[in-house]
Amino acid sequence: MKIQFDETCGQFHLWNDKISYIMRIMENGQLEHLYFGKKVSPDRDYSYLSERGHRDMQACPIPENPKFSPEHIRQEYPCYGHGDMRMPAFEIERENGSKIVDFVYVSHCIYPGKKAIDPLPAIYCETQEEALTLEIRLRDEQIKTDLVLFYTIFASVPAISRHAEFVCQTEEKLSLETAMSFGIDLPDMNYEMVDLAGTWNRERHVRRHALEFGIQSVYSLRGSLSSHQFNPFLALARPGVDENAGEVIGMSLLYSGDFLARTEVDNYGVTRVTMGIHPQQFSWPLSMGEKFVTPEAVIVYSDQGLGEMSRIYHQLYRNRLARGVWRDRPRPILINNWEATYFNFDEEKLLSIAKKASEIGIELFVLDDGWFGHRNDSRSSLGDWYVNEKKLPGGIKGLAQKINDLGMSFGIWIEPEMISEDSDLYRAHPDWVLGDSRRTLSKARNQYVLDFSRPEVVDAVYRQLADTFQGVPIAYIKWDHNRSMSEVYSAGGGREYQGTVRHRFILGMYSLYARLRAEFPEILFESCASGGARFDPGMLYYAPQTWCSDDTDAIERIRIQYGTSMVYPLSSIGSHVSAVPNEQLKRVTPLRTRAAVAYFGTFGYELDLTKLSREELEEMKQEIAFMKQYRSLIQPGKLFRLISPFENDGNLASWEVVSQDGQKALVAYFRILQRPESPYTRLRLEGLEEDAVYVCREVKNCCCIEPDAEEWYRSGRELANIGLIMSDVSAGCAGVAADVQGDFLARMFLLEKTES
Ligand code: DGJ
Repeated sequence: MKIQFDETCGQFHLWNDKISYIMRIMENGQLEHLYFGKKVSPDRDYSYLSERGHRDMQACPIPENPKFSPEHIRQEYPCYGHGDMRMPAFEIERENGSKIVDFVYVSHCIYPGKKAIDPLPAIYCETQEEALTLEIRLRDEQIKTDLVLFYTIFASVPAISRHAEFVCQTEEKLSLETAMSFGIDLPDMNYEMVDLAGTWNRERHVRRHALEFGIQSVYSLRGSLSSHQFNPFLALARPGVDENAGEVIGMSLLYSGDFLARTEVDNYGVTRVTMGIHPQQFSWPLSMGEKFVTPEAVIVYSDQGLGEMSRIYHQLYRNRLARGVWRDRPRPILINNWEATYFNFDEEKLLSIAKKASEIGIELFVLDDGWFGHRNDSRSSLGDWYVNEKKLPGGIKGLAQKINDLGMSFGIWIEPEMISEDSDLYRAHPDWVLGDSRRTLSKARNQYVLDFSRPEVVDAVYRQLADTFQGVPIAYIKWDHNRSMSEVYSAGGGREYQGTVRHRFILGMYSLYARLRAEFPEILFESCASGGARFDPGMLYYAPQTWCSDDTDAIERIRIQYGTSMVYPLSSIGSHVSAVPNEQLKRVTPLRTRAAVAYFGTFGYELDLTKLSREELEEMKQEIAFMKQYRSLIQPGKLFRLISPFENDGNLASWEVVSQDGQKALVAYFRILQRPESPYTRLRLEGLEEDAVYVCREVKNCCCIEPDAEEWYRSGRELANIGLIMSDVSAGCAGVAADVQGDFLARMFLLEKTES
């Protein structure tokens, strides 16, 4: 890994074993992007990549060089006002309304490691040897403002992280109108855009579509949410790229609010990508001495398809974004009472579920919504974070102790950024609601959003929560957020303040997380937003796991979790077994299928255990024992997606997790509907050592390896090139057991490396 600056040609070259990132200082002092991709030779002048050609009608800021047309130059961090007619990465408005800027190179520095990006989430290093950082300082002398571009290259992964900083040193009042985290101009448009799209209950479905001339984007304008609708991620994949082969560039933003991820293809086929805070509704005044820092983005290059891109994100986000004592610990197997009781519970009911849970080996009991104020439905009490003693006469402490006495730890639900009209907090501080009190204010789920742009509001919520939880043995917090922002107006400031409110809100939310994490360092946080509306890397910095979706139907979850795994590690994917008929879809799926899907995440249950038969509880006991044995393979394991539920007719799906030490692998295979006369199917495995021999066994009922289970020995080469035989019963396989028949089937296989 190295960052090299060649003074003679003004070229920066960042490289590690796998990738190169190259740019240069142009004749006008601005930066030109030259190359990003597979590693190319160091010590070379790549300025031949700056193609110039005279084109009629071009705007040219250097009259003596008529070939210098910014519109036709691949820019590094494009600006407005010099003849580049495409979308800029940033815009600064001066007092007189001018948005013309001219940032030119001043200096740079290179140092080992990586600095924190206060007050935002960021990838971190544990040692200085893990990364190198380049800071390039550009200055606009007229507006006395510096723009600092940050690039970090990592020693062990083909990834670059980027962000920008604006530092104002003028008395003139400036306003930052757009501040994207990065821009990159790629020389052609021969890509497909891969993104994650959906809505509530079907988040992060994988979409893939060809790049076209003009603009395509994914975004959130929901203020406080990265959203169910789109994820702050996009990848550009060469046509034909699959899970294992081909060139992909992944781009992911560490931010939890409004974002824009935009591709713009010009008429010469150059592809510009910009990503960052959505400029719509954003306007940030900059005064003398002030600085604005953009969120960080992580750009990954893979020449081994989407699968490798995902594994790179998993490695970085699991080990160098998630933090704290829970980063490397196996996740506790939990039971959550939400789908079991909704708001309708008392201590007796909770304890009856908890007792059964402890009998079958569950480790953590989570009390969901409805424990505070007088909340018996969604219409009241958000903001009043003190216990409802009618439901819990011994308080949270009393309940937590009883749960601890059953041998389980105790967790609790909160929704700190919200307020109900029927709450003491609202009665005391109606002006703390985000919205213009002179106008109608939309309710969503009967609630309003608190104005977290104001530190005093965040502070008050912090004090309530810290007081309530102090001295209570709380091991886990589920932090929910159940609506988008709508009428965004803050009483915390005047006209200029309003364009800052959405970003300040996110900073307020992050700061509350930071304070609670510091106060309660042992607590495991799980973020949540009406299911999966805040499944983003920003949250993973504070909460190492995220509730993936309110849709707990196993079949829908196959798609949702498959899509989520494009970027996010299995250790972060909140996944539970729920009751049948399923709450959301009324679908009835076998227990083994529900478990087989939920294993590939944090794993837990979300149903009334007192309503289950002895046989069902016995099966769950085996599932729990199975997960306890294999979670340290699964959660930090290397994921290989084998069959996509978004391809062909979506009837099959499969994935495989290989342990970090390569000794074991678990394969899951799902068949949605059994079809008549199906074709023969072989499941070719990935990530195994070709010359090693593996003993393969089917996981009986997806929950145990029977002592006398049939074993068969296969080399890694056979498993990769021939595969496991998975033919459907109807394809005429003789002797196939009855338990591989029927709809909504899951099968699992364990592979262990052996010397024989
Ligand atoms: C939405 C979450 O996604 C659910 O799991 C549950 O916690 C409810 N909110 C509670 O209101």
